[in-house]
Amino acid sequence: MTKQLYIETVGCQMNLLDSELVVASLRKQGYALAKKASRADVILFNTCSVREHAEEKIYSALGRLKHIKRQHPKKVIGVIGCMAQNHQSKVFQRAPFVDLVVGPGQLHQIPDLIHRVMENGGPQLEVSLDRKGEHRRTVEQSFESYDPLRMPEMRPSRYQAFVRIQIGCDKFCTYCIVPKVRGPEQGRNPDEILAEARQLADEGCREIVLLGQTVNSYRYQESGKTTRLSDLLYRLSDIQGIDRLKFVTNYPRDMTIDLLHAVRDLPKCAHYLHVPAQSGSNRMLRQMKRGYTVEQYREMLSKIREHIPTAAVTSDFIVGFCGETEDDFALTCDLVRESRFKNSFIFKYSERPGTKGADRYPDDISDPVKKDRNNTLLAIQNAISEEMNQQKIGREYEVLVEGPSKSSRKQEHQGNRLQLTGRTMTDDIVVFDGNLRQQGQLLPITIYDANAFTLFGEVRMEHVGPEVYSLSPEFTN
Ligand code: SAH
Ligand code: SF4
Ligand code: F3S
Repeated sequence: MTKQLYIETVGCQMNLLDSELVVASLRKQGYALAKKASRADVILFNTCSVREHAEEKIYSALGRLKHIKRQHPKKVIGVIGCMAQNHQSKVFQRAPFVDLVVGPGQLHQIPDLIHRVMENGGPQLEVSLDRKGEHRRTVEQSFESYDPLRMPEMRPSRYQAFVRIQIGCDKFCTYCIVPKVRGPEQGRNPDEILAEARQLADEGCREIVLLGQTVNSYRYQESGKTTRLSDLLYRLSDIQGIDRLKFVTNYPRDMTIDLLHAVRDLPKCAHYLHVPAQSGSNRMLRQMKRGYTVEQYREMLSKIREHIPTAAVTSDFIVGFCGETEDDFALTCDLVRESRFKNSFIFKYSERPGTKGADRYPDDISDPVKKDRNNTLLAIQNAISEEMNQQKIGREYEVLVEGPSKSSRKQEHQGNRLQLTGRTMTDDIVVFDGNLRQQGQLLPITIYDANAFTLFGEVRMEHVGPEVYSLSPEFTN
């Protein structure tokens, strides 16, 4: 009988990709995906440590499994990814019924480790080396990137895929746990990246999103030759079948002219740049050790606008970082007001034990104040997002169709037409009426309505295909 696997994933795109790869390796061993943890033989949580809340959610989910494990001791429960690396054996202390703790650098070992647990080998712990303890090369090797296996079924859509080009991070922003849990920054060999992209194109993928914590710092050196992100984009652009290239996340200081020129000159490159600012106050930026001033960030933004006037720029902000005054916060509000980001992701500061921030600065802004600042900044950004989206009404955009919209996925049967979603070249989400056969197509869509988050459109008449009467299993599932 096939064994059942249940996997829950939190965190960033890196984790989504890692889960896809773990599922692929277990499918090869004969596992099928279960919809409920209670039905599965193996239950995995791919975890995130970036904020305390993300970790607590996993411990609560584990707590809910305690009685299932008591009734079915043979079920294997695993904690994998960033929190596994961060907490290591502490996971067993807090949740003694866990069988498996595997860091992001050891994911390739999961099939073997599960096998060992099932053969009564006891709980298994596999994590990477501590960054401080050893020689850099040795630590790097212990954070092995897990990339080559792909399974189309796990992707967000068959026509889109993530490709990792860089693992780890060396920036050490004082608030951030990522350099600890993902290890030293390492660029992947460009030949491997290209081979993977070609394989994805052969499988019908049309859009590739390149992943790295500071993706634009990507460098790969071999026999005296350096490959940068811009070089990669040129090479990836030559692959037939791939129509769109995106990359996240950018580090403001590494937004170089060669990269902006590549985005401007390569028709396949999306005009979409996620470049987190984190704060508008120089005092906070210094304390965060971000490595730039707000003036330099502004300069970088105007460089983007000058070279790529159509670019959509998005940002991240942390509110309530240690010692953030009303004046500091007002400076962040000013930056958001004037920058006209397409969108901003706003987070309340969450102290992470093991970071410089936690060691050096007290987490002294109360939660209600953090919440208040979060809401204020969000309201400023949302008003701007809505205003910018309203300006798109009446215009036509090329949309890559991803699949049924969330609301139409919930409905069992809805007749012949259904609501689909897709994305524009500037990463705007567009909802429109269409049919399933349009998935994966690039369609011209005219926008007739918009809110802060979504555009609503209509496919140009000659592209409205014949109506479909039966829904594919993919949709009814
Ligand atoms: N590598 C990316 C993002 C990493 S984490 C970058 O450098 O931009 C994603 C976002 O989470 C960060 O941009 C930051 O805004 C937020 N974040 C990171 N650590 C945090 C913490 N301790 N508390 C709150 N938000 C945090
Ligand atoms: Fe964290 Fe800073 Fe690295 Fe981003 S650049 S992952 S915020 S340390
Ligand atoms: Fe979280 Fe790890 Fe990503 S800590 S944000 S899942 S790299």
